[in-house]
Amino acid sequence: MSGLDPSHILQIGMGFFASKTLLSAVELELFTKLARQPMTGKEIAAALQLHPRAIPDLPDALVALKLLQREGDGPDAHYSNTPESALFLNRDSPGYIGGILEMANARLYRFWADLTEALRTGMPQNETKHSGEPMFAKLYADPARLEQFMNAMSGISAGNFKEFARTFDFSTFRTLCDVGGATGQLSCMVAAAHPHMRCTSFDLLEVVPIATRKIQQAGLTDRVTAVGGDFFADALPKADVITMGMILHDWNLEKKKLLIRKAYDALPPGGAFVVIEALIDDARRENAFGLMMSLNMLIEFGDAFDYSGSDFMGWCREVGFRDFTVIPLTGPSSAAVAYK
Ligand SMILES: C[S@@+](CC[C@H](N)C(=O)[O-])C[C@H]1O[C@@H](n2cnc3c(N)ncnc32)[C@H](O)[C@@H]1O
Repeated sequence: MSGLDPSHILQIGMGFFASKTLLSAVELELFTKLARQPMTGKEIAAALQLHPRAIPDLPDALVALKLLQREGDGPDAHYSNTPESALFLNRDSPGYIGGILEMANARLYRFWADLTEALRTGMPQNETKHSGEPMFAKLYADPARLEQFMNAMSGISAGNFKEFARTFDFSTFRTLCDVGGATGQLSCMVAAAHPHMRCTSFDLLEVVPIATRKIQQAGLTDRVTAVGGDFFADALPKADVITMGMILHDWNLEKKKLLIRKAYDALPPGGAFVVIEALIDDARRENAFGLMMSLNMLIEFGDAFDYSGSDFMGWCREVGFRDFTVIPLTGPSSAAVAYK
């Protein structure tokens, strides 16, 4: 025998078992129900309307995956959330990030079944696969999908925006425009953490009512405004700081460069252009999530792709940006900053 161990290969190859177990548990709202009270397997089956065959495999698998805790053994054992599940997977928690998992379950999980076709053809495999319609127009034509996409973005971005608001030095700036700002989450977090900042969340017109509602709920209408527009057709609102969270990765190189040029034009000298993404490491060896996010952009858009900090600096230098820095955020994500 070689002494080599296949378990790493098998863990990745069968990784969809773990993924779908979590995604179905979120879909069934198991973590939300357990946040109200610990339950036995039988009580879980009743609360979630499950077939008896689902018990005890589903909750025990989640225990082994360290997403649930179990007190005791056998039919009388009680299941409860781990501290992380209680904070991040309970819909009633302010820290809920399950929106991204709900979208992964409803959309991405199925689209990724066609990854091989995407790799052969370079074509998207999502809702636009057969119609060829632009992705956002197709998604936003259905209000439920629009809402689902907005919740997904809030879920995946919350930790990064909070960390960005905490670590970026806003002391010399007064205004910020978050381009493609979705629900206004980044603007609200920056405004809440920095009382001298005024923020504009710029996104397509369909998104403005959702952002306006969230800004009202956050009690920040005096310093955060949602503005509708098209970042390809319109000039960007002028601001000291222009941010783009997971925007450049949605587009091909030509459109990325167009958006970088527009950010440059909207900034004063000394202004900062910030992108927040799962930036790929420069050697393209380490950030597996960033690299697979780029494959996800193939699935969603075809010619769109994720990029490294040095790719970003190169494109920004071409339009005149002079100084650069990269700030690590949560997990695989970073903020890359270019100063005009
Ligand atoms: C991947 S989401 C990112 C949302 C948010 N910045 C974040 O990081 O969580 C892309 C956003 O770009 C917006 N968007 C797409 N095309 C746009 C356009 N032409 N003009 C303005 N916003 C656009 C979408 O509505 C969506 O909110």
